[in-house]
Amino acid sequence: AAAEKGGHEWFMEKEIHEQPQAVADTLLGRTDETGALVLDELRISEEQLRNVDRITFVACGTAAYAGMVAKYAIERWTRIPVEVALAHEFRYCDPIADERTLVVSISQSGETMDTLMAVKHAHDLGALTVSICNTHGATIPRESDAVLYTHAGPEIAVASTKGFLAQITACYLLGLYLAQLRGESYADDARVVLTELHETPDRIAEVLDRLDRVREIAHFMADTRSVLFLGRHVGYPIALEGALKLKELAYIHAEGFAAGELKHGPIALIEPGQPVFIVVPGPDTPHGLHGKVVSNIQEIRARGARTIVIAQDGDTAVEPFADEVIRVPRTSPMLQPLLTAVPLQVFAMELANAKGLDVDQPRNLAKSVTVE
Ligand code: G6P
Repeated sequence: AAAEKGGHEWFMEKEIHEQPQAVADTLLGRTDETGALVLDELRISEEQLRNVDRITFVACGTAAYAGMVAKYAIERWTRIPVEVALAHEFRYCDPIADERTLVVSISQSGETMDTLMAVKHAHDLGALTVSICNTHGATIPRESDAVLYTHAGPEIAVASTKGFLAQITACYLLGLYLAQLRGESYADDARVVLTELHETPDRIAEVLDRLDRVREIAHFMADTRSVLFLGRHVGYPIALEGALKLKELAYIHAEGFAAGELKHGPIALIEPGQPVFIVVPGPDTPHGLHGKVVSNIQEIRARGARTIVIAQDGDTAVEPFADEVIRVPRTSPMLQPLLTAVPLQVFAMELANAKGLDVDQPRNLAKSVTVE
């Protein structure tokens, strides 16, 4: 079994380390020599795709957070309204969808029953259905009009890691492709992102080289009862994912919040010693979001929180208010989630390790939930 795990203690650890490859393989062969995206495999006509006036993601768990990240990016690049629905809620909210709606399901396994039922319902409403899936020939891609495979390779650990980064990558490819088809002026911006997306596997590898401190922090925190996670913009779903991972793996109460929501409630939870992770947007994120998140850190620190800050290289503004700083390489705002998710995965895994838990098979969970 050690060989299967490539010398790693857990499949999860192996899969975390496979993330640069998962992203690179998902990008592979999807651009032509001019750098334009080619997604022939989608098998939906360009005309149909050009007519799309609404996009709805349906997914569960970690995959739904990939959809939340993608919403920010795809709306910006295409100006098409995007919503994200938990698959098990989709059918029951009387969803609005027709032949101009693209319903994009995201599922690593392609077998999640809730997601499958949402896809079938979308199909009945006449929507175009695209499956973003990691498993060739799985049920959800078979039941969809088109599929865009992620190429993360088999994911064995119950908690999704490389599947998640590959899902964000595939969602971005889809968004960039739609922007390209529509020829929006935003497509310029999109082209820069596409170039940078190809540099992302190396940056993820760099994050993986810097994990010693986060491992130590996890071991110090083995007795922690509750952890909060804050993020904003694309960092908000990453905060949610950080909290989900901690619940799943370490059985610790954890909650993710949008940092702007802090003053509307969650700040009441802050008491001396409360650990809070903050995913800080890069200093060049539009609308001054960086400064706003830095003041959030200052506010909670003033109330005694123990602040563990995930920030870009060179972001010195966070230092006065951070008990710990976990650094990630610089990247443009939309690509940050592919870096900031990684230390949070490792934190949850190491905390579970420190508690002597089974990282690959957490209690009560299944890799793929094939019942509704
Ligand atoms: C299960 C797993 C989660 C996963 C979710 C969606 O609940 O424990 O890790 O995110 O299913 O799985 P899918 O295969 O549809 O991506």
